Amino acid sequence: LVLISNLCFSQIANYDESKASPYPFPDVLTGVDGKKIITIKQWEANRWALLNLFAENVYGTTPKLALKQHFVINKTQIDALNGKAIQKQVSVFFDDYPQLSPINILLYVPKGVENPPIFIGLNFEGNHSLIADTAIYMTKNWMIDFRKDSTIIKNNRALEASRGAAGIETWPFEKIVSAGFAVATAYCGDIEPDYSEGWKTSLRGVIGNREVNTWGAMGAWAWGLSRILDYVETDKDIDSKKAIVVGHSRLGKAAFWAAAQDTRFAAYISNESGEGGVALSKRWYGETVEIINKNFPHWFSEKFKFYNNNVASLPIDQHQLVALIAPRPIYVSSAEGDQWSDPTGEFLSIKKAEPIYQLYHRKTLAESARPPVNQPIGSYIRYHYRSGKHYMNLYDWEQYLKFAAEVIR
Ligand code: GCU
Repeated sequence: LVLISNLCFSQIANYDESKASPYPFPDVLTGVDGKKIITIKQWEANRWALLNLFAENVYGTTPKLALKQHFVINKTQIDALNGKAIQKQVSVFFDDYPQLSPINILLYVPKGVENPPIFIGLNFEGNHSLIADTAIYMTKNWMIDFRKDSTIIKNNRALEASRGAAGIETWPFEKIVSAGFAVATAYCGDIEPDYSEGWKTSLRGVIGNREVNTWGAMGAWAWGLSRILDYVETDKDIDSKKAIVVGHSRLGKAAFWAAAQDTRFAAYISNESGEGGVALSKRWYGETVEIINKNFPHWFSEKFKFYNNNVASLPIDQHQLVALIAPRPIYVSSAEGDQWSDPTGEFLSIKKAEPIYQLYHRKTLAESARPPVNQPIGSYIRYHYRSGKHYMNLYDWEQYLKFAAEVIR
C-alpha cells in the first residue's frame, strides 16, 4: 500500500487539496544542527549550512570560480522607448573561456531619474523577441521551439521574424522606465541552452565534465544572473544596491536560487515559479519532483533525482529557501489557470518562511489563507493570485512596479 501511494505521489499530478499534504514540512526555526533558532545571530550562523543543503540536494553546488570577465558596450541609443530611455546593449565576456557565449544584456535606463533601481531577469526567446527593434542583437544560440512555428524559429535558431514575437507584456519596458526603474534582461540560452545536452556549451561543460553531476542548468542560469549584476555594479547610471531579480516559471526558479545565493540582489520576485521554485516540494499538488526531473533531467542536481519517489526524505523544503531571501523583500505570484505550479503551495511557502522575517521585525502577511483572484496582499512580503494563464503579463508587472516603488525606492 505504501508503495502504491508513493508511486501515485511522485508520478501523478494531484489536484485534490484534501490529499495534498501527506508529509510534514521542516520547521524553519530549527537549524541544520537541530537546535531551535531564536535570534538573528543563530539564524545567520545557520544560513550557510542551510544554503548548502539546497546545493547538495536540489540545485547542485555552484563552483567557486574567480573568472576573469570584461564588459563590452556594443550599442547605445539615447532616445529609446519614445524618448523615455537610454538603451544599452552590453556583452559579458569570459576571458578564461573564450569558447563560452558572452551574456548579451539588453538594458534600458529611464531618463531624468537619478540612480534608478533596476529589475534584472532572464528571458526565454532572446532579447530581440521582446520588442520589435531591428537594432537589438538577435541571438545565434540554440533555442527551444516553444511556438512550433518554423517562420519564427527553425532548427532551434531564431529567425528575423521572431523579432517582437514574445509580445511586450512579458517585459513591458516602456511601462517599467516610465515608473522610474531601469531594466536589464538576457537570453537564458546565452548562459546555457535549455535542453539535456545544453551543458556542453555552457560553463558547466567548459570547466570539465566532472562538474556536470554537481550542478544543473538552474545553477548555471543563477550564476549568469549574478554576472549581469556584476556589470550593473559598474554602470554609474544605475543604483546596483537596488537590484530586484525577477523571473517567470523555470526562469523564476533560477532567479530564486540566484537571490538566495547572491545577497547583492535586494529583492526577489517569483512569477509562477512552481515546483523547484517557491512551491513546496513535499506537497502533492500539480507538478512533482519526479515529474520535473523526468521531463527536465538537466535542470537540477543528480542528487535531486534520488527524491523522485522519496520526497518525504528530502531534508529541506522550498519555504526554507524563501527564508534565505529574508530580510529582503519578496513578491510571489500565482495564477488561477496555472494549477500545475501549485498556487496554494507557493502561498504556504511564504507563510512558513515568515518566522524568519519576524526575527528581523519585518511586516508579515496578515492573511493566513490564499486571497481570491486579483487581490494582492501584503507589503514587504507580497502575494497575488491572478486570474488567467501561466504567463507574466501586464497585471503582474503593474503589481511589481507598485511593490518596488514602495519597498525598494
Ligand atoms: C514546464 C515545467 C515547469 C516550468 C514551466 C515553464 O511546465 O513543468 O516546472 O516552470 O515549464 O518554465 O514555463
